[in-house]
Amino acid sequence: MDICTTVADLKRQVSGLRARCPRIAFVPTMGNLHAGHLRLVERARDHADGVVVSIYVNPLQFGPGEDFDAYPRTVAADSAQLRSAGVDLLFLPSDAEVYPRGQTAQTFVEVPGMSDILCGAVRPGHFRGVTTVVNRLLNLVAPDVALFGKKDYQQWLLIRLMVEDLGMSVKIVGIDTERAADGLALSSRNGYLSDAERQIAPALFAALCRLKERIEQGRAGVGQAEAEALAALTAQGFRPDYLSVRRRADLAPPVRGDRKLVALAAARLGRTRLLDNVELDMPGQE
Ligand code: PAF
Repeated sequence: MDICTTVADLKRQVSGLRARCPRIAFVPTMGNLHAGHLRLVERARDHADGVVVSIYVNPLQFGPGEDFDAYPRTVAADSAQLRSAGVDLLFLPSDAEVYPRGQTAQTFVEVPGMSDILCGAVRPGHFRGVTTVVNRLLNLVAPDVALFGKKDYQQWLLIRLMVEDLGMSVKIVGIDTERAADGLALSSRNGYLSDAERQIAPALFAALCRLKERIEQGRAGVGQAEAEALAALTAQGFRPDYLSVRRRADLAPPVRGDRKLVALAAARLGRTRLLDNVELDMPGQE
């Protein structure tokens, strides 16, 4: 595995890789890799012959008072895992390489509307930071395909919209959430949980699964199932930011006749903010 830290070196290495590999896949990460990231890398191989990964904790997507400083940085262990996973090229840029003119002078990319709802409403500016860095990384690496985890469902949809709106030719692929045996979605932030909180954390996925079952079996309407799930989470000590059933295509609230839905939740447990979602299908009307 080659490692590069500058844009100039990245471009050189990517051209070399391209000469050997007709199709290149890219997996952008913020490091502290877990089995979910490694699954993205593994799936990248299904789409391409060369795999490029980046590790960059992007300051632009963290708000004031968020966990930018605390975010776990484990580059040595991450590199070893990526090497074993057969990654061809690892990009480890500094802030100056990603934002050469500085973070405030940087041209930004923002998808209007969907960036401001759900996680975007709770974390203003977060998605602008995400789409800005992903746009720049996609332009630098110029992959044929890029893979994103569907745990960050809203992020995945926003990146798809950005790529479509800007006429970028990369294919964006979403990969199903990797979970611990008890259902907890894998996330770098799970490391913030205390032992006691780690025991409670799977209740987020359990609440979403129950909501899905209640709606799909026609036992509860959307509003009632949302209220039940919120109450269950609160009773277990979560402080939910939101729990909402939306349309899968655009995350708008569903209207009569919408069938393809997704229930998304973000909830705080102690100092950890957990995210999860489940896709569900509204039962058909007779
Ligand atoms: O999902 C993440 O880890 C980040 O938001 C991403 C896509 C690497 C952009 O910084």
